[in-house]
Amino acid sequence: MLDGKRILLVVAGGIAAYKTLELIRRLRERGAGVRAVLTRAGAEFVTPLSLAALTGDKVYGELFDLTDEAEMGHIQLSRDADLLVVAPATADIMAKLASGRADDLASTALLATDKPVLMAPAMNVRMWEHPATRDNHATLRRRGTLFVGPNQGDMACGEYGFGRMAEPEEILAAIAGHFAAAGRLAGRRALVTSGPTFEPLDPVRFLGNRSSGRQGHAIAEALAAAGAETTLVTGPVALPDPPGVATVHVETAEEMLAACRAALPAEVAVCAAAVADWRPARKAEQKLKKDGGGAPPVALVANPDILASLAAAGPQRPALVVGFAAETENLEAHARAKLAKKGCDWILANDVSPQTGTFGGAETTLYLIGPDGSEPWPKMSKREAGRRLVDRIAERLGGAEGARLPGAAQ
Ligand code: CTP
Repeated sequence: MLDGKRILLVVAGGIAAYKTLELIRRLRERGAGVRAVLTRAGAEFVTPLSLAALTGDKVYGELFDLTDEAEMGHIQLSRDADLLVVAPATADIMAKLASGRADDLASTALLATDKPVLMAPAMNVRMWEHPATRDNHATLRRRGTLFVGPNQGDMACGEYGFGRMAEPEEILAAIAGHFAAAGRLAGRRALVTSGPTFEPLDPVRFLGNRSSGRQGHAIAEALAAAGAETTLVTGPVALPDPPGVATVHVETAEEMLAACRAALPAEVAVCAAAVADWRPARKAEQKLKKDGGGAPPVALVANPDILASLAAAGPQRPALVVGFAAETENLEAHARAKLAKKGCDWILANDVSPQTGTFGGAETTLYLIGPDGSEPWPKMSKREAGRRLVDRIAERLGGAEGARLPGAAQ
């Protein structure tokens, strides 16, 4: 299942390094080629000889080793890999990559690479929970570094908590999952809308809504992770731009529509934005003042419906147009009516009854509804929902017959 995949494995200094030996064995059993870089601290825990015996290759150590550099430069080392895996990933190596330091071969290879990096952290629970490590973890995740673990449990230092390196089996599954997911939508173009729109009343005031953009951003990130060339058109949100996604920032519905049109053609469009249905008929040139009488009358005019216009884009219409519906009752009936009205292919109906905590929260309860069926999804994180939608999109664009949803109830 990993035939021909080339893994550059960075082994940093932690007691969990002994588990990495088992990981190498399992990777090679599954057909992957493994080349190891051992840090100076890592060499205190496992020997170069053990790594060389298991990888069947030379082990790379010092940055300024003239023999190594003559055979293979440190840049080439990381370029030659399909994936860089850091196991164990210590607090130190996470800090180095987060701050861009490169003072040994391992950190230099990590900084020089343009390939995905998967880290399996292993450290004392207090080190893992230290604000510095939390920040480094968040920074690396934002930039697209993948993580597996750490797990909770007893640790070699005698404490209990998060910090145990994931088991070799879990790291292997994460590696296999990465290769299975990456590339499923390679060569496809995707467009996602996210966040609220702000509709100006005057230079300082606007009509807006509380959409966080979390769901749309998670979908864009999952599409990009699956290899799609993804454009995210987002209203004002407090989220970082997702890694690997071309992000266009807009404020109003009209700007959002123009940015979406500019991003066509695309094979798939997912409209997750909470677009304001109306905007003030005119934006005052200057700030509205209190003097001069009572409250100013605000006349509203309808905004363009971005989902409906993408679904009716003629020759430019994406093959798959997906919308959202926020409902508190009669979920399926309301969502079906919206599917027909907007002319899209699928609707993700969001149960936003107060007890679900969906609005602004990290979790969501969705139903995927198509013309022929519906699929209830259990409550899950918005990131997980993004990945599940990408699974369905990949199945559909992969040539599934008709419009039937996978596993659809008839
Ligand atoms: N949408 C859009 N442009 C608009 C309004 C909505 O693209 N001007 C999209 C949203 O991104 C979402 C779907 O249409 O995919 C939601 O449709 P909407 O009719 O606004 O439904 P609800 O927000 O669920 O509201 P209501 O039930 O009041 O119709």
